[in-house]
Amino acid sequence: MSNNNSLPKRERWGSRLGLILAVAGNAVGLGNFLRFPVQAAENGGGSFMIPYFIFFLLLGIPLMWIEWGIGRFGGKYNHGSTPGMFNLLWKNPTAKYLGALGLVISMTILIYYTYIESWTLAFSFFSINQTYFGLDSHNSMREFLYSFQGKQTGDFFSSLWPAYIFMLITFILNFWILYRGISKGIERLAYIAMPLLFIFGIILAVRVIFLGTPNPAIPENSVANGFSFIWNFNFDHINQPRIWLAAAGQIFFTLSLGMGAIHVYASYLKPKDDIVASGLSTAMVNEAAEVGLGGSIAIPAAAAFFGVTLTTQIASAGAFDLGFVSMPLIFEKIPLGFVFGTLWFLLLFLAGITSSVAMGQPFIAFLEDEFGYSRKKATIILAGIVLVSIQFVIFFLDKGFLDEMDYWAGTFGLVVFALIETILFMWVFGSKKAWDEMNEGGDFRIPKIFFFIMKYVTPVILLCIMLWWLVQDAIPILLLSNVESDKVPYIWGARALMIVITILILFMIKRAWIKKAQVNR
Ligand code: TRP
Repeated sequence: MSNNNSLPKRERWGSRLGLILAVAGNAVGLGNFLRFPVQAAENGGGSFMIPYFIFFLLLGIPLMWIEWGIGRFGGKYNHGSTPGMFNLLWKNPTAKYLGALGLVISMTILIYYTYIESWTLAFSFFSINQTYFGLDSHNSMREFLYSFQGKQTGDFFSSLWPAYIFMLITFILNFWILYRGISKGIERLAYIAMPLLFIFGIILAVRVIFLGTPNPAIPENSVANGFSFIWNFNFDHINQPRIWLAAAGQIFFTLSLGMGAIHVYASYLKPKDDIVASGLSTAMVNEAAEVGLGGSIAIPAAAAFFGVTLTTQIASAGAFDLGFVSMPLIFEKIPLGFVFGTLWFLLLFLAGITSSVAMGQPFIAFLEDEFGYSRKKATIILAGIVLVSIQFVIFFLDKGFLDEMDYWAGTFGLVVFALIETILFMWVFGSKKAWDEMNEGGDFRIPKIFFFIMKYVTPVILLCIMLWWLVQDAIPILLLSNVESDKVPYIWGARALMIVITILILFMIKRAWIKKAQVNR
């Protein structure tokens, strides 16, 4: 290692607040406002919240500290991505290849997340312009969404061009920010986007509370019943493994855990910067945005207008129906609805863009740190890969391309990666060393109980979840048991794309280490 003694010349965060806003921006995303309400509604509301909070304590917080710990440690040796970090934790040639997962997962999610993010921008415009105003049923609003996405040729959009153009705008914005770098790009974005996001969220949540009982003839359709659906903790469905798995999956996704995205942000810290308080506070900010705001908008609003039973059915019908179908229907019905509609979709866009830049940073850091590429060159390479891959997501959306990527990268992969990193840090690197590393420079010490949780509880839970998923979910999905036959070739296409990305990254890791060995000789 050439730079063991002096600090490497890395980009750095401009300020502590900027860092916290940026990591909070990383975590607070579409997951908080779209995915969380759907998961909660689909999985029994108050029943879901119990495993959700349990896993926040036993997986979310410990993994947050573990990832900040690994990340800052890697940054000391000028490694911003997980291949280099794992190589430090475990002196074995295999380690760096395990770290490939931290690049594959974040890049795969970036590819489809960018497209979803662009819909929120498009719908912001459709709200200002009142494009969808006048559609008065779930069916017609769904047709509007599907015809925009090109899933269904409806009367609304005759081609994919509008969707494509919004994708390009979103794509360019993302890569422009990435190109500007850590403190001038990502941090500055967070300074603007995060306060706005919270202001918009609070305005919307307050508006929702005042919806009361929109139709006095149906008193059970009320905001109050929407809130009690989520907040009346109950054990009705608690014996169903599906609820526990959904809760664990949501904790991972919403906190951006298990994909190398927290590590890279932490790698731009100085070795003695606090991570204990920063890690905890970003997790808390995310939860405030998720259960506080995310839980106070879509579900209570839908419950007020459509009732709790229909709300759960809407949530089960599709991942985007609550946000892109039910919410627009509600905006049409309230005074100044186009203003609230615009705020809602802009809120989603701001939440989305502060997350998508975080998904791009691991690969950029990898090219910069391990190949010595300039940020410009690294950004262009990533942009090229994303632009090519996103075409499949756009044109094969109705064939399940996006869903397939989301399952392997956004659900299964996270758990596998989290298990690997926990074992490497707490067992291979050593729990004592890991503990000291995480506490180094901390504003306070991590409560001792978390030592035990991180070493034993977290990995055991991860192992159980992974095995359960493998048996219940992954094998049937892998064998395409429940897929319509016309989708099969496209699903294989999605897998082929992910395999190509994986092989490419494995190959690049190999190249990087060969090159380094030659330089150090
Ligand atoms: N946490 C983000 C959200 O709630 C989504 C996300 C998943 C993410 N993986 C990520 C964000 C990786 C940044 C990096 O929407």
